[in-house]
Amino acid sequence: MNIAIVGSGYVGLVSGTCFSEMGIDVTCVDTDASKIGRLQRGEIPIYEPGLESMVRRNVAAGRLHFTTELASCIDRVDVVFSAVGTPSSEDGSADLRHVFAVAETFGRCINRYTLLVMKSTVPVGTTHRVGSIVKAELEKRGADIGFDVVSNPEFLKEGAAIKDFMSPDRIVIGVESERAKGVMTRLYRPFLVNDFRCYFMDIPSAEMTKYAANAMLATRISFMNDIANLCERVGADVNMVRKGMGADTRIGRKFLYPGCGYGGSCFPKDVKALIKIAEDNGYRMRVLQAVDEVNESQKSILFDKLSTYYDNDLQGRTIAMWGLSFKPETDDMREAPSLVLIERLPPGRRMPHQGLRPDRHGRVPPALRGYARILRRHVRGCGRCRCAAARYRVERAAHAFVAGFGQSDEAQGGFRRAQHIRPA
Ligand SMILES: NC(=O)c1ccc[n+]([C@@H]2O[C@H](COP(=O)([O-])OP(=O)(O)OC[C@H]3O[C@@H](n4cnc5c(N)ncnc54)[C@H](O)[C@@H]3O)[C@@H](O)[C@H]2O)c1
Repeated sequence: MNIAIVGSGYVGLVSGTCFSEMGIDVTCVDTDASKIGRLQRGEIPIYEPGLESMVRRNVAAGRLHFTTELASCIDRVDVVFSAVGTPSSEDGSADLRHVFAVAETFGRCINRYTLLVMKSTVPVGTTHRVGSIVKAELEKRGADIGFDVVSNPEFLKEGAAIKDFMSPDRIVIGVESERAKGVMTRLYRPFLVNDFRCYFMDIPSAEMTKYAANAMLATRISFMNDIANLCERVGADVNMVRKGMGADTRIGRKFLYPGCGYGGSCFPKDVKALIKIAEDNGYRMRVLQAVDEVNESQKSILFDKLSTYYDNDLQGRTIAMWGLSFKPETDDMREAPSLVLIERLPPGRRMPHQGLRPDRHGRVPPALRGYARILRRHVRGCGRCRCAAARYRVERAAHAFVAGFGQSDEAQGGFRRAQHIRPA
C-alpha cells in the first residue's frame, strides 16, 4: 500500500517513518520547505529517540520520501493522513486552519478513490466538515471521484513515540464505510498481529476519545498536584500517599506523580479545547476548568519555593536548571513549565538561559541544544556518575539547582533523581 502523510512534525514524521518500517511506501508532505529540504538531505528536524536511524534506513530502502507538494504523489497513494498542527486559538478553541487547508488541497488533487484520515487532534464534527470541504472542492472541479474520511487520533508520547507507534496499546478508528474500514484494517494489522486491539467506532466518538483520554491524564496530574500541595501543609509524604493509592488496582500507578505541572504540545491545548467545545455546546466542564487552573498555578511552584528559600531575594543568585523541555527525551519546548520558571527569575540572573526562547515551532534554539544536553547528562549523572565533568561545570557556577521538568511518568526518571531545589 502507498500512503502520504501531510504534516511532517512530531506525529507526521514518526507515523510516516513507522509505516515505512512496516514495508509501506510513504511520502511525507510538509509546506515548510526548509523542513523538507533538511529531511531530503538526511537531517532530522526534531529529536526523538531512535527516529534518525529509522528514517535513514527507510530512505535508503526507497520506501520513505519527502516533498512539499501533495499533488506530486497523490496519483500513487491510496491513503492520505492529515497530521498537521491544531494549536490553541486565543479563546482556547483548536485552530483548524491547517486541517481545512489540507482538505482543500486533497479535494483539488485526487484523481481516484482515496481515503483522507484525520490524525490530528480535532474537535467533534471536524472530520465531517473536512468531508464537506473535499466534496465542495470536487464539485468546483466537476469531478465525480469517490473518497472517504476517517478519524484516527494518535496516542503516541513524545520521547517514546517510536515504541508507542510500533506497539500501540490500542488503535482508535472512526469510520463510516465498509471500504474505508477494510483499508484501515489492512494498514494497521501488522502493528497488532497477535492481539488486534483496533476499536472501530463512529467518527464523532473517535474524535472525542482522544480529547477524553488526554483530559483524563491531565486530571490525574492536577489532582495529584493538589494532593501534594495539601500533603506539604499537613505533614504527609506525597510519595508514600502515591504508592499507597497506586497499589489499588482500581486506581493504578500511572500518572500519579506530583511535579511542576503538565506542559507540552497536547495536554494544555487539548484541555482548553475540550472546555471550549463544551462551552460552545452549552455545557460547562467544571472538573476540567479546575484541572487547568491547578496546572497554571502549579507551574509557578518551583519559583515560589526557590524564592521562599532565599527570603524573596533572588538578586545576585545564579540558578542552574535541569530539564528545559516539557519532559525528557524530546526537544519540544511548547508550553514547557521551565519557561514559566525562567520568565519569573530576575532578568539579570538568567545567564545560563540567556536568549532561551522557543523558536516558532516551540523548540529550543540550536545554540542552546548543547546546553540542554549537558543538563540532561548532568541529571543522569546524579544517579550513576557522580563526577561528570558537566556536573562540575554547572555546579561551580550555580547557587541553586532547580529541576524544571514538566510532568509525565517519563519525566519522573529525572525528576526523582533531581531535588526540586538544592542550594549548591
Ligand atoms: N506531539 C504529540 O506528541 C502529539 C501526540 C498525539 C497527537 N498529536 C496531535 O497531532 C497533530 C500534530 O501535532 P505535532 O506535534 O506533530 O505538530 P507539529 O507542529 O510538530 O507538526 C505539524 C506540521 O504540519 C505542517 N503543516 C501545517 N500546515 C500544513 C499544510 N497545509 N500542508 C502540509 N503541512 C502543513 C507544519 O509545517 C508542521 O511541520 C496535532 O493535532 C496534535 O494535537 C500530537
